[in-house]
Amino acid sequence: MCGIVGYVGTDAAKPFLIEGLKRLEYRGYDSAGFALYDPKSKDFIIRRSVGHVEALVEATHGMGDHERLGIAHTRWATHGVPSEVNAHPHRAGGLVLVHNGIIENHAQIKNQLIAEGVSFSSQTDTEVFVRLIEKHCLRLALAQKLVFLEATPLQKRDIALHALQRAASEVEGHYAVIFLIQGIEDCIFGLQAGAPLVLGQCKSGGLVASDLQAMLSHTSEVSFVPVSTIFEVSKGLSHFYDVKTLEEKTVKLEKIEWSSEKVAKDGFDHFMLKEIFQQPSVIADTLSGRMPLSELGSFVWDNPVAHEALWKNVKKVYLIACGTAYHSAMVAKYYFEKWAKLSVEVDIASEFRYRNPVFEVGTIVGVISQSGETADTLAALRLANEKGLTTFSVCNVPGSTIMRESNFQYSTKAGPEIGVASTKAFTAQLTVLTALAYDVAHLRGLSPNSKDSDEGFRSLARLPQDIESVLAHADEFQAVGASLENKKTILFIGRGTMYPIALEGALKLKEITYRHAEGYAAGELKHGPIALVDKDLAAVVMAPPDELHAKTLSNLEEIRSRGAFIVGIGEDKDTEFRKLCNSYIALPKTTWTTAPVLYVIPTQLISYGLARKLGCSIDKPRNLAKSVTVE
Ligand code: AGP
Repeated sequence: MCGIVGYVGTDAAKPFLIEGLKRLEYRGYDSAGFALYDPKSKDFIIRRSVGHVEALVEATHGMGDHERLGIAHTRWATHGVPSEVNAHPHRAGGLVLVHNGIIENHAQIKNQLIAEGVSFSSQTDTEVFVRLIEKHCLRLALAQKLVFLEATPLQKRDIALHALQRAASEVEGHYAVIFLIQGIEDCIFGLQAGAPLVLGQCKSGGLVASDLQAMLSHTSEVSFVPVSTIFEVSKGLSHFYDVKTLEEKTVKLEKIEWSSEKVAKDGFDHFMLKEIFQQPSVIADTLSGRMPLSELGSFVWDNPVAHEALWKNVKKVYLIACGTAYHSAMVAKYYFEKWAKLSVEVDIASEFRYRNPVFEVGTIVGVISQSGETADTLAALRLANEKGLTTFSVCNVPGSTIMRESNFQYSTKAGPEIGVASTKAFTAQLTVLTALAYDVAHLRGLSPNSKDSDEGFRSLARLPQDIESVLAHADEFQAVGASLENKKTILFIGRGTMYPIALEGALKLKEITYRHAEGYAAGELKHGPIALVDKDLAAVVMAPPDELHAKTLSNLEEIRSRGAFIVGIGEDKDTEFRKLCNSYIALPKTTWTTAPVLYVIPTQLISYGLARKLGCSIDKPRNLAKSVTVE
C-alpha cells in the first residue's frame, strides 16, 4: 500500500513524480505529496494535499517546474487519519522522507525520542522513522566533531547511510523508504526492508518507485531492490549495500515485458471495464504456448524438468492466498482432488501464518497472488520456505517478491491490472490452476475420466472464444446489476465450484458498490442465512447443468418462496431454471472445467452495472488499495 516514486536527473523532476503518482494511485489515494530539492535556496520545497493526486496537481500548478531532484508519495493511511499533516513526505532537519509499510514499534521509539526532547507534528510512524534517522545523523556527526548540516556532501552521505543502518536495526516491521539529504543535489537514498522498491535508469536520469508501473513509460530495464538493502541512485548510477554490513552488493538488471501502453483506459470509462473486456486475450495469452496439442499431451511450463520434479512425490498441497486470489485457490481444490486425487488444503494467508499447520512428508505449498507483494501471502510463503517445504507461486507481476522467493513460478499473463477490484487476474489464475491440476493428474498417471477430460480439454482450448460470446451480452448484465439498486442485501449462491464463484461475486459487489453482499454455499442457507430473506433481498443463483444442478434449484425454491428477487445465471437452454427466476442471464454451453471462468464474468458486470448506477468510485473504491503490503 502507498505509492513511492523518486527522480534524479537533468530534466525537471515534477512531471516524472506526478506521472508516477498517477500510475501508482491505485496503491492508495487518501492523500499525496512531494518534496523537490531547490539548488538555489539549498532547501526542500514540500507540498502535500488531501485526496487524489489530481488535488495535489491543482494545488501546485505553476510551481516546482525546474527542480531536478524529487521524491513523492500517494498514501493509504495506516497510522493517523488522512490529512495534510499526516501526508508524506515527512521532514526532520536536513532529511525528507517517504515511506511504505509499517514500523511496528513506532510508539515505543516515539516515546523514547519525546523523552530525549524531539517533538512531532504528525501521528505517523513515518515521522518517527525519519526523526530516528536524524537523531543518528546528528550523533554520528557530533562524534566526528561535525555539524551535520554544515558537513560536505560526501561526509553527509556517509553519515546518513550509517544513521539509516542504525535506525533500521532499531525498528521492527516490513517497510521501504526513500529520502533526500539537504545539500546533496544529485542523489536519492533508500532502504528496502520488506516492501518492494524498483530502480531504473532513463535517458535523463535515475528513477525509483514502489512499483514497476511508475516507470514503464521511461524504461523497461529495472533492478528489483532485494530485501535488507540500502541503496543510492543518481543519473546513470545505482549502488546497493547490505543493511547489516554496508558492504556493496550486485543487483542484476532485468528486462520487463510489460509496456506502458497497457496502463491506459483505451476508451473505456473505467479500468475495471477495460480489464473485464480484456479477458479473452488474457486467457489466450495465459494458455498460449502451454496447451498441448491433444488431451493426451502435457502442458508446457517454463521449466518442464523442474515442474515434473516438483510434482513427482507430492502427497498434499496447501494453496494459500488472500481475497479474490483465495477464491481461485478454492476452485482449484475441486480440480486437484477430482483429477489428480491429491489432498488439498486451502488457507487464507493471514490465518495460515499464525496457525501451527502440520506438514506431512511430501507437502507442497502454493501461493496465489496478482500483485506478488501481498504482505500476508508473502509471510505465508516465507514460513513455508523456512520449514523447508517446496513452494510454488501463481503470480501476475513479473519480478515481484512472491515470484522471486518461491521455488517455482507459474505466471498468469494478465498484464497490469489497475482496477482495485480484480477481474482479469482472477480468471487468469483460474486458468493456470485448472491447467495445472489437469497436468498434475497426467503426471501422476491419472487421466481424468475420459469423457470429462476430452470435453474439458477442448473447452479450455476454446475458452477465449467462449468468453467473447459471454461478453457480447455485457450491457444486459450491467442492466441486471443496475436493476438491483433498491435491494438491501444481495446474496450469491452456488454449489461445488460455483460456491467459490459465489464468494467472489459477493466480494466484487461489496468492493465497488458498498452494498451488503454475502456469498454462500447454497446448501448452507437453511443453517442461518435464510433468515435474511425477504422482498428486499436479491439472490444471484449460479447453477450450471452439473450433477448439483437439481440441488441448487431446490435451494432457489426455498428462498423464492420467501420473497427473494432471483437472478439466475445458467445455460441458455435451461428452461426449468429460467422459469424460476425474475431475471435470467443465459450463458452458452460450458463444461465443469471452464464454468468458473464463464460464470464469474456476469457477476463482474452485475457489480459494475450497479456501481455505475449508484455513482461509486469504481476503479478506486473507498478504503481499499490494490496492493495490500501491510498485514
Ligand atoms: C480483489 O478484488 C481484491 N481487491 C483483493 O481481495 C485482492 O484479491 C487481495 O488483496 C489479494 O491480492 P493479491 O492477489 O495481489 O495477492
